[in-house]
Amino acid sequence: MAAADAPVSALQPRAASCAGRLLDADRVLLASHIDADGLTSAAVAAAALERAGISFEAVFEKQLDADAIAAIAERDYGTVLFTDFGSGQLDIIADHEAAGDFVPVIADHHQPADAGTEYHLNPLLEGIDGASELSGAGASYLLARELAGRPGADERLDNRDLAALAVVGAVGDMQASDGQLHGANRAIVEEGIEAGVLEETKDLAVYGKQTRPLPKLLEYASDVRIPGITNDERGAVSFLEGLDVPCLADDEWKRWVDLTDEEKRTLASALVRHAVSRGVPASKIDRLVGTSYLLTEEAVGTELRDASEFSTLLNATARYERADVGLAVCLGDRGSAFERAKKLLRNHRRNLSEGIEYVENNGVTRTEHLQWFDAGAEIKETIVGIIAGMSMGADGVSRESPIVAFAEKTDEETKVSGRATGPLVSSGLDLSVVMGEAARAVGGDGGGHDIAAGATIPAGTEETFIEHADRIVSEQLS
Ligand code: C5P
Ligand code: C5P
Ligand code: C5P
Ligand code: ZN
Repeated sequence: MAAADAPVSALQPRAASCAGRLLDADRVLLASHIDADGLTSAAVAAAALERAGISFEAVFEKQLDADAIAAIAERDYGTVLFTDFGSGQLDIIADHEAAGDFVPVIADHHQPADAGTEYHLNPLLEGIDGASELSGAGASYLLARELAGRPGADERLDNRDLAALAVVGAVGDMQASDGQLHGANRAIVEEGIEAGVLEETKDLAVYGKQTRPLPKLLEYASDVRIPGITNDERGAVSFLEGLDVPCLADDEWKRWVDLTDEEKRTLASALVRHAVSRGVPASKIDRLVGTSYLLTEEAVGTELRDASEFSTLLNATARYERADVGLAVCLGDRGSAFERAKKLLRNHRRNLSEGIEYVENNGVTRTEHLQWFDAGAEIKETIVGIIAGMSMGADGVSRESPIVAFAEKTDEETKVSGRATGPLVSSGLDLSVVMGEAARAVGGDGGGHDIAAGATIPAGTEETFIEHADRIVSEQLS
């Protein structure tokens, strides 16, 4: 494809060169990350490889550390496609490449380590923001677009249908800001709309519009706290009962998707009026409205119709050692894998709400420049980052300073997750540096994005880690 015709022209040469290498391979080992973005990255790549007639096998890793890369090298594959990770571990990967273990092809959006390799597709290498403008699934999508139309590929398909999964990945990585996706992500949304697989609507920006009964939808919407409704079941019910909107059908609460457009508008403006009357500031009121990304080929009222619910469903699989289930759902299984994923989702939701309760009950410890909590074995290390992010703004947790969370990984190792906000990043905070440097100072390692990053450190070094992190945050924000 000519760069000018590519969805993101600045990345087209890299995408084309990666695609060329894959097409030269007999078979490919596809390695990806265990979250929503990692799963959708793998699904986009898997579909494109399949359509291009390239045989492959998929594996998932919680963290791509030296051991995981060594295990990948042990597998007898000449070509390894890394999606949604790989850039941050480029130094280790390059050593394996130099040793002749495999040729790496990387489609990622994390901060690259200090090393080079030939087939490397990453927005940060072309001045595009990897935390807000392109996700791993987006990078994978650009690669898929280049794999289409090559000799051997299925001629009927240009892979633009895969834009829907790419958007689920971006939304899952929380790349939407000011209520919508931006930059290269925006170009992918447009291709998905043209291909007829996506639709965007300006709508109430609360989670669960497809599947939650209306009272739960409002009660659980905690991003913008509305007194008398948020975390207040009776309040939410009486608010709904006071509206001139039929919210019940056959004695059952309707969901948002069951309302007509007119009814949705009535409910949304009543909610805004209620929030204003309870003193919610204008800046927060704005956050009540945002863009929803809908997958037009999925059934209305299911977890798959809305990109944000879809991404949570995926996190509910891969973060609980069931990446196979999430991948199957991404690739179109609407039978047993989908049923299984919904069961896993119930468990994930319970864990999220118990996790947030844990943070609210136990509180955070404040240092001069950050706040932290240690969940020990009370929160699973694969979801402690999600909980840290969701807890910002909860009772007793400030949005004015970054949050650091610890959870037990093994007896010897502790998982660390850091989360920040847009304004903190604008003021100079870069958590990928904070996590990386503080972790290395105590004999661990870490990285990620400016706004969200993680690390693994030796158990027992938590307090020293915090001292280092506090100092680095203070340097960045001064
Ligand atoms: O490894 P990966 O890039 O997929 O993980 C990104 C993580 O960063 C996700 O857990 C996502 O929720 C978090 N994030 C965030 N706020 C943002 C962007 C990302 O909490 N604005
Ligand atoms: O689980 P995941 O990181 O994909 O969640 C994305 C966002 O969706 C969360 O930050 C939260 O605001 C919202 N969410 C929610 N209730 C859930 C799961 C997710 O409000 N049960
Ligand atoms: O695990 P958590 O959700 O906190 O990760 C936040 C971000 O930091 C993710 O993008 C993840 O890939 C990255 N990370 C990393 N190195 C680690 C741990 C997390 O790059 N050791
Ligand atoms: Zn990602």
